[in-house]
Amino acid sequence: MLDWTDKHCRFFHRLLTHKTRLYTEMVTTGALLHGDQPRHLDFNVEEHPVALQLGGSEPADLAACAKLAEQWGYDEVNLNCGCPSERVQRGAFGACLMAEPALVADGIKAMLDAVSIPVTIKHRIGIDRLESYEFVRDFVGAIAAVGCEVFIVHARNAWLQGISPKENRELPPLRYELVHRLKRDFPELTIVLNGGVKTDEEIAVQLQHVDGVMVGRQAYHEPWQMAAWDQHFFDRNGPAQSREQVEVEWLKYLEAQVASGRPWSQAMRHALGLWNGQAGARRWRQIWSDHQYKAMDAAAVATLATQSRTGIAAHVAEHQAQTEALRQAAASV
Ligand SMILES: Cc1cc2nc3c(=O)[nH]c(=O)nc-3n(C[C@H](O)[C@H](O)[C@H](O)COP(=O)(O)O)c2cc1C
Repeated sequence: MLDWTDKHCRFFHRLLTHKTRLYTEMVTTGALLHGDQPRHLDFNVEEHPVALQLGGSEPADLAACAKLAEQWGYDEVNLNCGCPSERVQRGAFGACLMAEPALVADGIKAMLDAVSIPVTIKHRIGIDRLESYEFVRDFVGAIAAVGCEVFIVHARNAWLQGISPKENRELPPLRYELVHRLKRDFPELTIVLNGGVKTDEEIAVQLQHVDGVMVGRQAYHEPWQMAAWDQHFFDRNGPAQSREQVEVEWLKYLEAQVASGRPWSQAMRHALGLWNGQAGARRWRQIWSDHQYKAMDAAAVATLATQSRTGIAAHVAEHQAQTEALRQAAASV
C-alpha cells in the first residue's frame, strides 16, 4: 500500500507474523528503470516471504523489472491492475489495464519468461460500469492462458472517473460471490480474495471459498491482530508473545535505524497502532507522535510512552475496581 507498506512497516509486521506473505507498495517500472533502485528495492532479510508489486504496462519494461525483483531476492513479483488513480491512468497502467487483457497477458508472459520466481497479478472484478461476471472471468482466462497461476482479486469494481482512489476503496460495492465463482470456474488457479475483510472469523469464512485472503487497511491499523495469524491460519506458533515483547524488538530496530543515520520517526509511524484497543493506547500513540520528542533517543521516548500508557491503564483498572465494588454493594442492598 503506497506510503504505508514500506520496508519499515514490513519489518514491524514480521515481528507479528512469520508466515503471512507481505507485499511492497506499488513501484512503477519507470521509477525502477530510471530512478534510485536501492531506495525502491532494498529490504530487510527478515521480511521474507515478500513480493514486489510493479505498476507498468510495457512488456519489455515489466520483464526488466521482474528480473530486478528476482536479483534483489524477492519471493514473488506482482503486477498491479487494480489502482484507479488518475496519475496511474495517465501512465496507462493500474486498473485501466483490465480493458486490455491482451496487453496484460503480453506483460505477464514477458515477466514469466524473464524470471523463475512466481509472477502474480492483482486486479479488480471490473472497471466502471462493466459489472458482468463474464468480464472478469475472461480477463482471468486470458492471463491464465499465458501461465499466471495466482490472482489476487479486489472484490469491487474500479470506477475510473469522478471519484478518488480512497472512494474507490469504499464506494463500488463488494461482490465476493464473483471471486468465489472465479475459484469454482478455475479450480487449478490460486485465487486470493481482497477487500473489506476485517476479522479472523471473516477470513476463515472466505477461506472456505478461495485459497487466500489479502488484508490491507485492517492489518495496518490493527497490527496486533496479525499476532494470531500464524496459529490460526498456518498451524504454527507466531513470533509475538506479547505487545511488550514486540515493542522491545521494535525498539531495537528503531535504534538500528538511528545508528545508520535515519530518524526513528520514519519507521515508528507504522507501529502506532500496536496498543490499539488497550487502555492507554491513545496516550502511548500521542507520545510517540509528539514532535517535541522527535529529536530524543527512541529508548527514552519508549519509557515515556510506556509510563503514560501504564499510568492510564492503572487508572482505568482502579476505576473499574471501584465501579465493580459499587455494583456489588448496590446488589447486596
Ligand atoms: C493507503 C493505501 C495505499 C494503497 N496502495 C496500494 C498499492 O500500492 N497497490 C495495490 O495493489 N493496492 C493498494 N491499495 C489497495 C489495497 O491493497 C487493497 O486492495 C484495498 O485497500 C482493499 O483491501 P482492504 O479493505 O483489506 O484494505 C492501497 C490502499 C491504501 C489504503
